[in-house]
Amino acid sequence: MLRSKWKRYTVIGLLLLLAIGGWKFFRSGTQEFADDLERFKYGSMGAELAAGIPYPIFMALPQVFPDLIERHAQQGWGAQKSGQGGYAAFGLAWEPGRPLPVGFSIKRLGFERVTVNCALCHTAVYRLRPEDAPRFAYGGPGHTVDFQGLLRFLFAAGRDGRFTSATLLPVIAQQSRLGWIDRAFYAAVLIPMTRFALHVAEGQLGWMQNKPAWGPGRDDAFNLPKYILTQSPWDDTVGNTDFPALWRLGERGGHLIHSGGEAKSVATVIASSALGTGALPFGEFETRNRWIERFLSDLAPPPFPGPRQAALESRGAALFKTHCADCHARAGARTGRAITLAEVGTDPEHVRTWQPQDAERMNRLTAKLGMHNAELQGAQGYVARPLIGVWLLAPYLHNGSVPTLHDLLTPPAKRPPVFFRGYDVVDLNKVGFIATGPDAEAHGFRFDTQLRGNGNGGHRYGTTLADADKRALIEYLKTL
Ligand code: HEC
Ligand code: HEC
Repeated sequence: MLRSKWKRYTVIGLLLLLAIGGWKFFRSGTQEFADDLERFKYGSMGAELAAGIPYPIFMALPQVFPDLIERHAQQGWGAQKSGQGGYAAFGLAWEPGRPLPVGFSIKRLGFERVTVNCALCHTAVYRLRPEDAPRFAYGGPGHTVDFQGLLRFLFAAGRDGRFTSATLLPVIAQQSRLGWIDRAFYAAVLIPMTRFALHVAEGQLGWMQNKPAWGPGRDDAFNLPKYILTQSPWDDTVGNTDFPALWRLGERGGHLIHSGGEAKSVATVIASSALGTGALPFGEFETRNRWIERFLSDLAPPPFPGPRQAALESRGAALFKTHCADCHARAGARTGRAITLAEVGTDPEHVRTWQPQDAERMNRLTAKLGMHNAELQGAQGYVARPLIGVWLLAPYLHNGSVPTLHDLLTPPAKRPPVFFRGYDVVDLNKVGFIATGPDAEAHGFRFDTQLRGNGNGGHRYGTTLADADKRALIEYLKTL
């Protein structure tokens, strides 16, 4: 008799908790930003429901698992990689005085949830000297961002025996004031649910363990949607692709977008990228995507920050016109088009990753979701993009396999077969980031061009020019 009464109380208690929790679960907050740039850096792209992690839990993880941060942030990196603790260890663009790095949004949906936005992978960090504070180029390629390391850390935490309410709650309580309802809700619902969600995500990304590392500044751009969204069977393709810049996208009308030309418009890429980061295609989805398209249409790179030799620029401009403009000038006949693999000769793996049947599967899915503007096609070769802020696009080519402009103008057999990426000090002379030598080795991630998908061959344009001409051409490229 007594026992069944207790049972009833327990059930009523649980129902009450769920009712209060449920109400807390869906109460939606708003975000206010001083300007569009702030919104780009810290604004939500609408992924709270599908991919939001409770903010207090997210903040507690590095404190509870410093050993896992260290293990996963150092994997593949040189011994001197800065020992910054916490999420900074993953090479993120962290502005002073902010609770989280650029690319993370904190928004209330019931409780405060952390999600990532476009700026995570599309913000570049650079310095002119090792002793300088980092500078940020918003919309630039996040070449230091070790996204795979961050994911591996989160998954390892989810698998760890310490991921329990008993361990996490005291740390959360130090950081945020929790009432008893909150505590009960964290213990009974949010902590176990977050752990479960991390398990599910890890299962979906199991394939990445058997492929060459992404390394900083890259992810397997088309295998991610292929395996996760359309649930295609895992295959042996390797599509590791550099995070590109998103500058002046308004000039890309009529161009193919994505390195393989998988999309016919910027709007398509924005819609599919938003879906990829966890946004669901209803509610404010279209409005947000149109906002970011407008914002990116004229976002510009910072000018080259080092010395320039103006006397060489006009000679460089003439060389560019002869050797490069057809494919890379704003109005070049082939700019924004795909150049076939046979012609450009760069690493073929990205193209193999995304074939017409993969695009068809994706299109069927997005059509079902009512996203009729998200139609993709199989990779067409590699797109000759207009060169905008080219000094900050290193390492070069779609797979980031060539560290500097100087190396890109060197015949493939003489380009560095191994170098270090993710070190953020600019090489003002060769133009790119310092990628060889003791500093790069100590602070960077070892990039081996022999690994699948990392080939540094092809793109022989300009490689037979005289040294003085190459110098002049590089002077001109600094101005773009
Ligand atoms: C986890 C990292 C990551 C996030 C987050 C991310 N992107 Fe990207 N983005 C990439 C990678 C990698 C590519 C390169 C794919 C390719 O071109 O083949 C890319 C390519 C693009 C391109 C194509 C650029 C070009 O010149 O072809 C656009 C546009 C773009 N992203 C916009 C966005 C927007 C908008 C968001 C937010 C909704 C976003 N991205 C979020 C990694 C990311
Ligand atoms: C026939 C067309 C064509 C010509 C001519 C050409 N390129 Fe390219 N370029 C491409 C293609 C295609 C890519 C992308 C290849 C890839 O990513 O694998 C590319 C990539 C690049 C990149 C890398 C951009 C990035 O974001 O990493 C740079 C820099 C570049 N080209 C500079 C030049 C210069 C300088 C010249 C002239 C000496 C030149 N290109 C001539 C087609 C061309």
